[in-house]
Amino acid sequence: MPHRIRVRAAEVADVEAIHALLEPFAAAGVILPRSRDDIFEHLQEFLVASFDGEPVGAAAMHIYGSNLAEVRSLVVREDMRGRGIGGLLLDACERWAAALGVARIFALTYLPEFFARFGYARVPKESLPHKVWTVCVHCPRFSNCDEIAVEKRLSDAPIEPMKLAPILEVEQP
Ligand SMILES: CC(C)(COP(=O)(O)OP(=O)(O)OC[C@H]1O[C@@H](n2cnc3c(N)ncnc32)[C@H](O)[C@@H]1OP(=O)(O)O)[C@@H](O)C(=O)NCCC(=O)NCCS
Repeated sequence: MPHRIRVRAAEVADVEAIHALLEPFAAAGVILPRSRDDIFEHLQEFLVASFDGEPVGAAAMHIYGSNLAEVRSLVVREDMRGRGIGGLLLDACERWAAALGVARIFALTYLPEFFARFGYARVPKESLPHKVWTVCVHCPRFSNCDEIAVEKRLSDAPIEPMKLAPILEVEQP
């Protein structure tokens, strides 16, 4: 039987699984640590990738004020790597941001080569708005940050927007 990989908006029931997925990478210092409370508070930003129904990856898409979004907390469980799941999560973040009309998306990463495969280019960190760094104070590497900033222009890319939010429709006389 073929396996089923699905990327969907996160729900309250996913918080524990998202926390468990992020934890080892946060401990290793490759992503920012996120508490359960933090995940709850930002749940509307999170996507979950499931493999035959089991959550195996997560990503968050955060919007800044200056028509700019960030891909955060992108992880795929180690035993599920190389199946295209990370790419699907990244693609979903981009489509979601595009659907909201966001022009640019960036990431701070130790894996610029991964992002390069999806059309991201390196940019100077100084080109990002100051606001971006407010979450970094929680990072153990704050004073010695060696992450690389990568960015993609969504408005130039042929991205098919994806709507995740439910649409309410009523008909009235
Ligand atoms: C980065 C990560 C999400 C990739 O997940 P994945 O499911 O293995 O990625 P995919 O299978 O979708 O790979 C897509 C493409 O990227 C390439 N790729 C994957 N990991 C890569 C890496 N570490 N470096 C360079 N290229 C990579 C793959 O070879 C593939 O290319 P191809 O289509 O030409 O074969 C995963 O390695 C991870 O969770 N890493 C630890 C957390 C992390 O650093 N996240 C990024 C924080 S910004």
